[in-house]
Order: sequence, then structure tokens, then C-alpha cells
Amino acid sequence: MNTTITATQNDDVLLEVKNLRTYFKLPRNKLVKAVDDISFTLHKGKVLGIIGESGSGKSVTSRSILRIVEEPGYIAGGEILFKGVDCLKLSEKAMNALRGKEISLIFQDPTTSFNPYMTMGQHLEEAYRVHKAASKDTIRKRSLDVLKMVGINDGENVLPKYPCEFSAGFRQRIFIAMAMIFNPDLLIADEPTTSLGITIQAEIIEALNDVKRASGTSIIIITHDFGVVSQFSDDIFVMYAGHCVEFSPKRDLLLSPMHPYTVGLIRSVPLLEARKTRRLKSIPGFPPDMTALPDGCPFAERCEYAKDVCFKERPELLDVGNGRFCACHYPLKQYRTSDETVLEV
Ligand SMILES: Nc1ncnc2c1ncn2[C@@H]1O[C@H](COP(=O)(O)OP(=O)(O)OP(=O)(O)O)[C@@H](O)[C@H]1O
Ligand code: SF4
Ligand SMILES: [Mg+2]
Repeated sequence: MNTTITATQNDDVLLEVKNLRTYFKLPRNKLVKAVDDISFTLHKGKVLGIIGESGSGKSVTSRSILRIVEEPGYIAGGEILFKGVDCLKLSEKAMNALRGKEISLIFQDPTTSFNPYMTMGQHLEEAYRVHKAASKDTIRKRSLDVLKMVGINDGENVLPKYPCEFSAGFRQRIFIAMAMIFNPDLLIADEPTTSLGITIQAEIIEALNDVKRASGTSIIIITHDFGVVSQFSDDIFVMYAGHCVEFSPKRDLLLSPMHPYTVGLIRSVPLLEARKTRRLKSIPGFPPDMTALPDGCPFAERCEYAKDVCFKERPELLDVGNGRFCACHYPLKQYRTSDETVLEV
């Protein structure tokens, strides 16, 4: 069982995920342990970045928190304590009352969540009415407020228009506004910038930053891009093959990563500006087959530091001090990224 990444000050804890396991049952008795015994804590008003390559379990983690894992997936165990209450023990009705109201989710491509025949005003109204009856005026006022929160000051012009009248980046900002209609305590942003260009990405990050400042909402931002998490996370959680391999306050993790996989991800950050001419190095090889994970370290096949023991024994996630956790038999102690990274620390 993994070490639990526990909060130092429990009074300002918003979310505590403990030993969460979410599996998928596949034909021929195959089992994918998409999320396997992960634990983390999120404090009120803070931003947690979850990073990992495709298939590492990031979205399954976020869907587990909202209890919207699709078949053949199921939550096999653990606890999801939201304001001290275990969501896994709540009735479906109680869980529905949380979704969209206290915990909101935005994802990569909001296009599919907009009905092309409904105006943006109708979308915001619908998002509101899911949880509360109110007059059109009240909803309109709230809609204009949340649009302002994401930097859209001319909301009056936006409300009567249809989704197709806006760019993808602008639609994403409106989607964030919809997610904020009830000022949720927790906003989960699953790859909110992935399908967008670099300039629009920066706009979306800015919109999320504005939301954080204006509302005090805690945010989990999920991405495979260190450039994104480095901009506004407080803590970073690195996932590989369904496991947490490193958890750390952002600055420490970016300046001196301890897990070889974290180092690989940092080295593969896309260059944001042409003048920064560091050579990009992608991580060699591919993530392991999730239906047949090795007994040892799941990263061993790709790790330049691997030794015999790494292929035999799975490293435990250990508390290495100063709020840092690492699952590696040979955590890097002296690694410094400062001369090679373009990340904002
Ligand atoms: N519907 C499903 N059926 C079977 N397996 C699934 C299903 N959804 C996810 N998985 C498994 O769970 C693993 C984690 O998936 P997840 O969507 O969480 O990855 P991710 O880290 O969000 O990747 P990406 O960056 O591509 O979004 C996948 O590798 C896959 O094996
Ligand atoms: S446990 Fe071994 S193989 Fe795994 S990341 Fe650490 S050094 Fe590399
Ligand atoms: Mg995903």
C-alpha cells in the first residue's frame, strides 16, 4: 500500500484522496489498473497539477472524484474525502447535488458540450437550472458575473450568440464560466488547453488564474505538458501507469526533480519561445501495457538509471521530507534543471 500524501494542516484541506483504485474489466479476464492506489491532498484555494503521458490515468482519476467512471470501469477501493465526507459512500442523489455545484469539471474539447441550436445565454441558464430554480434576471446577472470572471466583459453581446460564432479558445472560456456558475469549491480542468494553439493556451491559463483569484476555488489541472502546470500549480502530482511516482511542491519539483520519469517529462517540454534553443529530448520507448504491468518498476524499461532491483521490485512511494514523495529505488538527489529548462518556476 502506498504512503498517503497527507496534509500538514488539516483545517484547510478540501479534498483528500486516499488509496484510490479504479479498474477496468476487459474481455478474457484482463484487468486494467488504470488508477492503482493513489493518494493526494488538495488544500482550499490551491492548485494541484496532475501530469503524465497519455494513458497514465489522469482522466480516470478526475472521473473517479466525480464518480462518473464509465463501464467497464469501476472504483475498486479507497476514499475520496471532500470536505471530510467520503464521496464513495454518498448516495447517487447526494453525489448529483455535488456535481456541477460544488465540484465542476471542464475538459479538453468543449465543442461537444455545446448545443449548436442554443445560445450561450441558454447554456448558462441550463447549467444554473440543473441545481436551482431562479428568475431569468437572477440567472442573467450571475451569467454576466461569471463571464467577467473569465475576462469576458461584454457578456451582454455574448449571451444572445450561438457557439459557432466563437473561436475554440473563446468557447473554452465560456465553458469555464459555466463551470463556475455556482462558485464550486473545486474545479477540475482536464487538459483544458490541449487542442488549442500556444497563444490561446496562455489565454485559458490566464482565465483559470482569474477564476482562482476571484473565487478562491481550488483547482486540479490535468495535463501532459509541464509548461502548463509550471505556470500556476502549487503542488505537482506526477502519474505513470496508474501510479503516483512523484508528488512535490511545484518549485522543488521543477528545480530538482527526484524521479527519472519527472526528469524525462521536464526535458520534453515544448519550447515556448524560439529564442530558447534548448534541444528537446523525448522520453525513449513507450508506456507499459496496462493489462500486463511488470512486477518491478513500471518505468524500468525506459529508465536510464535502472538497475537489477528495478526490474524485480516495485518501488514504494516514500515520504522523502519537505512535503515531497517519490517512488524510486534510486531517487535523484543532485539533479538540477535550471540550466536546461524553460519552465517558469
Ligand atoms: N473505457 C475504457 N475501457 C478500458 N480501459 C480504459 C477505458 N478508459 C480508460 N481506460 C484505461 O485507463 C488508462 C488510463 O486512461 P486515462 O483516460 O485516465 O488516461 P489519461 O492519462 O487521461 O490519458 P490522456 O492524456 O490521453 O487523456 C488507459 O491507459 C486505459 O488503459
Ligand atoms: S526505480 Fe529504478 S527503474 Fe524505476 S525510476 Fe527509479 S531508477 Fe528508474
Ligand atoms: Mg485524459
